[in-house]
Amino acid sequence: MVPTSILKAITVFLSATAVTAQNAGSQQSETHPKMSWKRCTGTGGSSCSNVSGELVIDANWRWLHAKGGYTNCYDGNKWNETACATNAQCTSNCEIEGADYTKTYGITASSDALTLKFITKGEYATNIGSRVYLMKDSSNYEMFKLVGNEFTFDVDLSQLPCGLNGALYFVSMPQKGQGKAGAKYGTGYCDAQCARDLKYIDGEANAEGWEASSNDPNAGVGKKGACCAEMDVWEANSISTALTPHSCQPEGYSVCEGTGCGGTYSGDRYAGTCDANGCDFNPYRVGVKDFYGKGMTVDTSKTMTVVTQFIGSGTGLTELKRFYVQGGKVISNPEPTVEGMTGNSITQQWCDTQQKVFQEEVYPFNEHGGMASMGKGMDLGMVLVMSLWDDHYANMLWLDSIYPTDSDPDKPGAARGSCDITSGVPADVESNSANAQVKFSNIKFGPIGSTFAAPS
Ligand SMILES: *[C@@H]1O[C@H](CO)[C@@H](O)[C@H](O)[C@H]1NC(C)=O
Ligand SMILES: *[C@@H]1O[C@H](CO)[C@@H](O)[C@H](O)[C@H]1NC(C)=O
Repeated sequence: MVPTSILKAITVFLSATAVTAQNAGSQQSETHPKMSWKRCTGTGGSSCSNVSGELVIDANWRWLHAKGGYTNCYDGNKWNETACATNAQCTSNCEIEGADYTKTYGITASSDALTLKFITKGEYATNIGSRVYLMKDSSNYEMFKLVGNEFTFDVDLSQLPCGLNGALYFVSMPQKGQGKAGAKYGTGYCDAQCARDLKYIDGEANAEGWEASSNDPNAGVGKKGACCAEMDVWEANSISTALTPHSCQPEGYSVCEGTGCGGTYSGDRYAGTCDANGCDFNPYRVGVKDFYGKGMTVDTSKTMTVVTQFIGSGTGLTELKRFYVQGGKVISNPEPTVEGMTGNSITQQWCDTQQKVFQEEVYPFNEHGGMASMGKGMDLGMVLVMSLWDDHYANMLWLDSIYPTDSDPDKPGAARGSCDITSGVPADVESNSANAQVKFSNIKFGPIGSTFAAPS
């Protein structure tokens, strides 16, 4: 999971003195959109009860300004070097502002559904994509323990072309977020790329050593990064989809520095404590090219139900199983057709086989503990993330095209979807697909078999 695009705002002026950590702003009240979901017991989705939840947008998208004033602390892809000469000064001088979810960020929630719009032209700036977390109450994230359970949701991604990713995933973030702003302002993010594009890490500004992005007017890379285990339940557009565990050791929130972070944002992708690649199940990539897409077995021109089972007990995660429900039919994940691979679910052995069949030179999933450490990460409790993003590092080609782009398309594992290798350039998708959106709804969670009528 990768970058973030941010909002810039107005400039007036500054006042700054008091010392506090990661302050919350006071210009705009923070009112979380409400979204209900269901906790299920029993079998077949018949005994589920409503849970009232709320949603919060990640701190990175928010206006950062001088404490009690209007001067930007961060504008475009740069920090104000006066207010933010050091991380400590920056942390105490600046505050993270409340959000107008619909007008500024294109986020709307109603009843049990959430819609994320790709481009939103606001009063002060144009917002690109978003990332939101499910909360239990106004200051705590909802913590999910996935092992032994099943997570089900509906998704409409008919409006997502090549290059966009409407993602639903889990990360081992701290329940209360970080700093004074806390979870209420969407702080505390971490993932298996050891995210370095975050403006705050562990409650402190990440301003020192920040390098502005060369192709993203809203983003940059800081010296520090935040790592933690990541379970990508759903990374998808209307062309391709992937289910991908990313292991980390340690599994929980940990801070990295510079190249040692590894991942997308660092020179050496494999230098860190997390598996940046993951062990993915992408039907197209394992040879089944007519399974997922518009008009296919799972028809992405219509809403579908996505079921993911986290089979195992305690911290012992043994298998990740996927079903789809569409038009009243339950559709199992397909068997791979690539020679040498069998099994329509992710197990440790499935990952081992895929690594060999695809002749991958590296196997970071295993180096960081594989399924065993993924299970431990889940046992810490994970936060549900829903996002819509475009990819300033690899144009999303790892999901929906041939990747690496110079591979022989017939080499097992090279082809991941039918998008062209020239697709997915952020500048193109941002201008050509400004109206793209993804809708997630009808979330259900409970023991295996409790959220839907499984095939017998
Ligand atoms: C940067 O912050 C200083 C105060 O620390 C303020 O005087 C100045 O106007 C800010 N610069 C910009 C470009 O916002
Ligand atoms: C549960 O939530 C849904 C969606 O918000 C709503 O339509 C339904 O009436 C709720 N049911 C109960 C029993 O509260």
